[in-house]
Amino acid sequence: MSKSIFENVDLAPPDKILGLVADFKADPHPNKVSLIVGAYRTEEGAPYVLPVVQKVEKEIADNKTLNHEYLPIGGMPELCRAAVKLALGDESSIITENRIAAVQSLSGTGALRLAFDFLFQHYDNHTVFIPKPTWENHREILKFVGYTDIHEYKYFCSETKGLDLNGFTNDLKSAPPGSVILLHACAQNPCGVDLTQEEWKLAADIVQENNLVVVFDMAYQGFVSGCPDTDAWAVRYFVSRGLEVFICQSFAKNFGLYNERCGNLAVVCKNSTIAMHVESHLLKIIRAMYSNPPNHGAKVVATILNNPVLKREWLDQLKSMTNRILSCRQLLFQKLKELEVPGDWSHVIQQCGMFTYTGLKPDQVSLLREQYHIHMLASGRINVCSINESNLNYVVAAFKDVIINTSGSKL
Ligand SMILES: Cc1ncc(COP(=O)(O)O)c(C=O)c1O
Repeated sequence: MSKSIFENVDLAPPDKILGLVADFKADPHPNKVSLIVGAYRTEEGAPYVLPVVQKVEKEIADNKTLNHEYLPIGGMPELCRAAVKLALGDESSIITENRIAAVQSLSGTGALRLAFDFLFQHYDNHTVFIPKPTWENHREILKFVGYTDIHEYKYFCSETKGLDLNGFTNDLKSAPPGSVILLHACAQNPCGVDLTQEEWKLAADIVQENNLVVVFDMAYQGFVSGCPDTDAWAVRYFVSRGLEVFICQSFAKNFGLYNERCGNLAVVCKNSTIAMHVESHLLKIIRAMYSNPPNHGAKVVATILNNPVLKREWLDQLKSMTNRILSCRQLLFQKLKELEVPGDWSHVIQQCGMFTYTGLKPDQVSLLREQYHIHMLASGRINVCSINESNLNYVVAAFKDVIINTSGSKL
């Protein structure tokens, strides 16, 4: 037998988060708890299919007029239009002035990939700033696009477990003029720390003074307040200041459509001609990369967003998910206080979205896994909605034990 042409291909390291999920699955302990998962969970710890999604899926299945013809390269126009309205508001003048390029994307990841592929090809400045910390995949996406000049800007303050405002603003100010900067629009993953409106205004000042190009990652619209309009405040504010921004939208979380890969990339431009040109190049990238996007998730989201009755149902169900997230934060905080777990813990209720940075150190995280079979990211990030009445006592008692028993790693 001749040698394989892939003899020199080594084993790639596993994805950090997916590797941990595999470890959790392999853990045979009956009381194991996963606080890792990046998806919404019900009180029973189960995935959630939104009733409105189920209803629309039934209608789609029964509709004999539908077929499996290809979608256009840029996806379903009704989806893109509805997605843009969801991001910018129904009455946005950007829409009436046609100042927006919009294409359906392979969920939020696909929108980010398209945004950066476009920027890499059509914008000369190849310096990019991402927050410290950020979603693990941001750096990977940038690397695969071809970026090498990738920097982190300060964001999370480990003492206050809130925003490092000085570090953040200084890093934005000292970024080379014209750099590209990735901002989480809301529900920052992993640290759960968002900017206040006053802090966003400060950030927009610096962005404008320093000519930074903003890519908004809006993967969790609605997961902070329960209201998509409220959660889009930062995006709408930046746009209102005349900035040209990229908006990467995901419908994985707020519609619970994780495996349908439905999202949208919207690029706000100075005028309609530029928007048309930008969109034409996004289409070229899509055509060469995957030709055209899948239909099912887009059909579901577009049907819901374009029908006022269904949209109302969706808004109510989105609100109920957010309410559960908030009540999980309260439950966790109260139990931490009740069991007198060393530490302040107010960050658990101050942080927002689905994730919280507990402040637990890597050695404490390891102990939790080894001794209690409680699995979480090494950073101490947990998904708050994986806490429920049946694991709350166990988890918090374990936190207390490892914090008391680890010397030199106080919270
Ligand atoms: C911050 C952030 N951006 C983007 C994504 C992409 O999600 P998806 O591609 O599933 O829409 C995620 C998913 O976890 C995320 O946390």
